[in-house]
Amino acid sequence: MYLTREEESIYDGSSGWANQTCIRILVRLGELFNAEKLIPIDSAHVSGVSYKTLGDAPIEFLRALADADARVKVRTTLNPQSLDSHYLGKKLPKHLQEPQLDILKQFKRMGLTQSLTCTPYYLQRPKRGSHHAWAESSAVVYANSLLSAWTNREGGPSALAAAIIGKTPDYGIHKTENRQPNVTVKIETKLKNETELGALGILLGKTVGDKIPAIKGLPTTSKDRLKQLCAAIAASGMANMFHFDCSRTKETEKLSVDSHQIKQTIEELSTAATNQPDLVFLGCPHCSLNEMKRITQLTEGKKVRAGTELWVCTSCHIRQMAGDYVKKIERAGGHVLDGVCTVVSWTEKLGIETIMTNSAKTAYYAPTLNKAEPLLAPLQDCLKAAFQG
Ligand code: F3S
Repeated sequence: MYLTREEESIYDGSSGWANQTCIRILVRLGELFNAEKLIPIDSAHVSGVSYKTLGDAPIEFLRALADADARVKVRTTLNPQSLDSHYLGKKLPKHLQEPQLDILKQFKRMGLTQSLTCTPYYLQRPKRGSHHAWAESSAVVYANSLLSAWTNREGGPSALAAAIIGKTPDYGIHKTENRQPNVTVKIETKLKNETELGALGILLGKTVGDKIPAIKGLPTTSKDRLKQLCAAIAASGMANMFHFDCSRTKETEKLSVDSHQIKQTIEELSTAATNQPDLVFLGCPHCSLNEMKRITQLTEGKKVRAGTELWVCTSCHIRQMAGDYVKKIERAGGHVLDGVCTVVSWTEKLGIETIMTNSAKTAYYAPTLNKAEPLLAPLQDCLKAAFQG
């Protein structure tokens, strides 16, 4: 792999252990994927922030990097953590809170923005054609497919290394030739809501693997709804982008999806044998301001039923903009949690055994990561289940 004189000198240790370690991670990754060089990035987004999913072992590595004066060179955001200060922080024991605070502290020392969201594109929209190193899979598909920004799906360590060096190896979908669709998917049904778009994502993720689909027949709909497709396709498979336009496809493979497959996928993701779940969770991926508004409209005059919790997750950035919406949702008995999400939080320690959600990604992960039975349904049905009467 070609390195500039400056990169070589960092590689040899002239800028200290932290920079040397980070550039070595990037070079190793680049060599694995036959990258010819490193390219500059506009931003990085780091996953592996929740103590629940990260565990203890990596904390010492983060501390060592911060102690060795590692500092990010580009704007770097963080994925959600395992609790929030308004609600879960008051319910969960200290031994789960302290390591989480320690993780955030080490990231802060390195200059990462405490965004704690999986929707960094709401904080700052990346420019068309700009290069990034993002590690949140749903955001990777959203950025590549809906914003025409370019990023591979990084792991937490490689995104952090890229942030500290300000560069990433030039491979994968940083290269034009690797962004071409190589499978065509024809949708033979009218996808009616965000849940059906999510179900399509789960189905495609499992079917196309790491291929790039060109999807024909997607409804004309909002990015908020398409966000469910982005999150789900990345949850069940390795595709990092999709296209709407099939005209450039030199595919060898053609697939079709019908209403029966969508229905079956939703049924497979709805294993809870109740219509009164312990938790109704909205905000995977984190809610946009528009989604907060929509939830608020459906919440007016309602009251969350006893025995059910309603969590609406978003970033602290959106929460600040959504002041009135937050008040109304909370007046109805819901909880607006920022910087956290159900999947990476300790729901099982709160006795939550059934989770209803409009997110196919959450329904896909709930059995393994939350030890909970999911119910997948559109927003209106989720809220109907959350409210009395
Ligand atoms: Fe975001 Fe958590 Fe879903 S990180 S994409 S809300 S699983």
